[in-house]
This record gives sequence, structure tokens and C-alpha cells, in this order.
Amino acid sequence: MNRFAEAIAEIAHQGYAVMKDLLSPEAIAALRAEAGQLWQEEDFRAAGIGRSGGYAIRSDIRSDHIRWLNEPAPTPAQKLYWEAIEELRQELNRELFLSLASFESHFAIYPPGAFYQKHLDRFSNADERVISCTLYLNENWQAESGGQLRLYLSDGSFEVLPEAGTCVLFRSDTFFHEVLPATETRFSLTGWFRRRSLATI
Ligand code: OGA
Ligand code: MN
Repeated sequence: MNRFAEAIAEIAHQGYAVMKDLLSPEAIAALRAEAGQLWQEEDFRAAGIGRSGGYAIRSDIRSDHIRWLNEPAPTPAQKLYWEAIEELRQELNRELFLSLASFESHFAIYPPGAFYQKHLDRFSNADERVISCTLYLNENWQAESGGQLRLYLSDGSFEVLPEAGTCVLFRSDTFFHEVLPATETRFSLTGWFRRRSLATI
């Protein structure tokens, strides 16, 4: 049995999973330090919504800042992340026949008060995103600091605290979700497993 078997069974069964052991605490701490460093160096930009022609900065909808990972030139911690993601991609394809072909990922920083309103990760003009994957980097995050990811289900909702090492996976075309404002700066790595666009085949 592979280490992702339980999470993959949950995705098959309910469309989402919360996983704790994608990476070691040391790797998470290193990624958190890198994100903090890049933030200090002002290497982030305000996140937008939509794709290509429909892209826009809308701080009334989302007020986080992002910095895309450059896959060909990973730091040691990013290399561990890409390796774990690749292992997960292969298992998802093997177990769920998903034809996931690639992965894109960015660091995200939500300064205190920042949020991302209820949305879907699948754009209306792009169908490549299949599974959303957010890995949280915040050590000793307290519940009263807020910053939960709220995932909307057909019969209610549930919330995940952005605590270091927690990884949330869900079907990008199915689940509306939002990021609630926090009182502390909130660090994460968000990515999407992608298939080849059906529109261009
Ligand atoms: C996103 C998103 C969730 C989170 O970036 O699209 O929904 O918990 N992120 O950071
Ligand atoms: Mn999202």
C-alpha cells in the first residue's frame, strides 16, 4: 500500500482529502523560510483572477500575493516538494485514471485581513485543472488566528486550519471554497494537477 492510498480513496469516495504527511516538518520549515525570504525581497505580486483575456486584479475578490515556482530551478526544499507531488500524481493516475499530465504551483501570502472569496479553481475558459492541492506552511497556527480554508460540500461545509504540514486536495471542478481572513500572515503553497486541455485535442 502506498503512503497516499488513504487520501486517494477519500478523493475517489468524496472528492476531497486532508493529508498530513506529504513532506517532513523540516522540509515544510525550509519552504516557509523561503517564502518569507521571497516576501522580504518583494518577489511576490498581487494575485489576479481568471485566465488570459479574462485576467484581472480584483482585491475585492482576493487580496493575497503569489509567487509562482520555477520548476526547472528548484531549491532543495522545492525539489522534495516536486518529488512528493510527482509520486502523488502517478498514484492519482494509477488509482483514479485521471490522466494528470503536469503540475503548476505558487507560494501564496495572505497578510492579516487578506481573503479569497468563494470561488471554483476551474476557469470557465480553461479546463486543465483537475485536482487542487494546497500545502500550509504556518507553524503553531492557532484556531483563533482564523485563515481557514472553507470547503463547500453538497450538504454543508467544513473548514481546515492552515497549520504547517496540512495538505488539502480536492476536485477543482466540483468544490466551491474560500479563504477566511486571518489575524496573522498566512503562508501556503498552492498547486494544481493538470490534464491536457480537451479544447485543444
Ligand atoms: C486558491 C485557493 C486556498 C487556500 O489559491 O485558489 O483557494 O487555502 N487557496 O489557500
Ligand atoms: Mn481556490
